[in-house]
Amino acid sequence: MKKFNIAVIAGDGIGPEVINEGIKVLKKVATLTNEFTFDFSYFPWGCEYYAKHGKMMDENGIEQLKEYDAIYLGAVGYPGVPDHISLWDLLLRIRKEFDQYVNIRPITLIRGAQNALSEAKREDIDMLFIRENSEGEYAGAGDWLFKGKPEEVVLQTGVFSRKGTERIIRYAFETARNMGKTLTSISKGNALNYSMVFWDEVFKEVSKEYPDIKTYSYLVDAAAMFMVKQPERFEVVVTSNLFGDILTDLGAALAGGLGLAAGANLNPEKQYPSMFEPIHGSAPDIAGKGVANPLAAIWSASQMIDFFGYKDLAQHILSAIETLLVEGEILTPDMKGNFSTSEVGDRITEILTKMIQEDRVIIES
Ligand code: NAD
Ligand code: IPM
Ligand code: MN
Repeated sequence: MKKFNIAVIAGDGIGPEVINEGIKVLKKVATLTNEFTFDFSYFPWGCEYYAKHGKMMDENGIEQLKEYDAIYLGAVGYPGVPDHISLWDLLLRIRKEFDQYVNIRPITLIRGAQNALSEAKREDIDMLFIRENSEGEYAGAGDWLFKGKPEEVVLQTGVFSRKGTERIIRYAFETARNMGKTLTSISKGNALNYSMVFWDEVFKEVSKEYPDIKTYSYLVDAAAMFMVKQPERFEVVVTSNLFGDILTDLGAALAGGLGLAAGANLNPEKQYPSMFEPIHGSAPDIAGKGVANPLAAIWSASQMIDFFGYKDLAQHILSAIETLLVEGEILTPDMKGNFSTSEVGDRITEILTKMIQEDRVIIES
């Protein structure tokens, strides 16, 4: 039987709480289908580890992770460790070292999820964000000159290589073609007169190879407005690292909240492991209370299953989430319910069991 070796970095705050539920679901899927098994290895890395050892991960952490089929990550960052250290030394380090240059973030208002925009139809909120995940504004390039002096200057340089820009745009065109959807590029060429002018040029160039795909191009400020006012404009979307970060939190708010929003950091060539994580952070304000919403982590688990090639099973997990939302009972407080993280995870596994045993997708019947 096929075995998938998964490195689990539950991380900080609500990370471990939500990841537990995702693992519960993955284990359940494996026993129900009997097609594959998971072997989970737990890495204690994160801010607590930093407090004990003065580092976010082992010296050879990247080497250790290389051997795995995928990484399942909760959240990184907690008060007490500066965010730029905790994130750069763990999460961003993994994304970069493993060249996970595609960040896939679905913004889909599934059935039963709360619609923040009462006038928008559910079907109108169905976007797939493809965020450049390896360079751009988050390249970490820059300098801090004359620190503490009156002439102090900081430089934070956006790095947009031809290779990096072309490959993400091409990936987005391929995705749009496979899905039979339009492709929208979001940039900011009017103000960012090098990086985004370049981005727009590359988008135009690559689009010539895909004459069958309808494209749109928006400035990021207008795009933010249209996402709220006319979300139906967006299907597959490609954008830079920073804009993708911001717009997918906005998207999460449109599509039922941060508690639902999932993200996959892909190395499409499979040269390195890909990493699956909810897009939310460690939520220190609710950590330790057992009330974090695990659905985003569970949705990420479904992205992992999809990446391994089990599309129907991935869809079953998503349908189980929908069923739970349509039932509208066993929900965490962020969704106006009063159930706990583990009760939501348990209910998902019950729904999945029924679904897989009956081998049908309840929600669509
Ligand atoms: P956050 O996403 O942790 O929280 C924002 C708000 O959303 C909070 O009110 C929180 O309670 C709520 N929330 C988030 N996830 C939730 C869930 N699953 N269920 C219920 N409510 C949820 O963002 P923040 O407060 O800006 O950041 C906190 C820490 O997390 C910082 O250290 C930040 O750098 C880090 N962070 C990490 C990641 C990551 O690891 N991928 C992502 C974002 C932020
Ligand atoms: C995300 C997060 C990270 C990012 C932070 C924590 C560095 O906000 O995954 O959206 O911006 O990439
Ligand atoms: Mn973010």
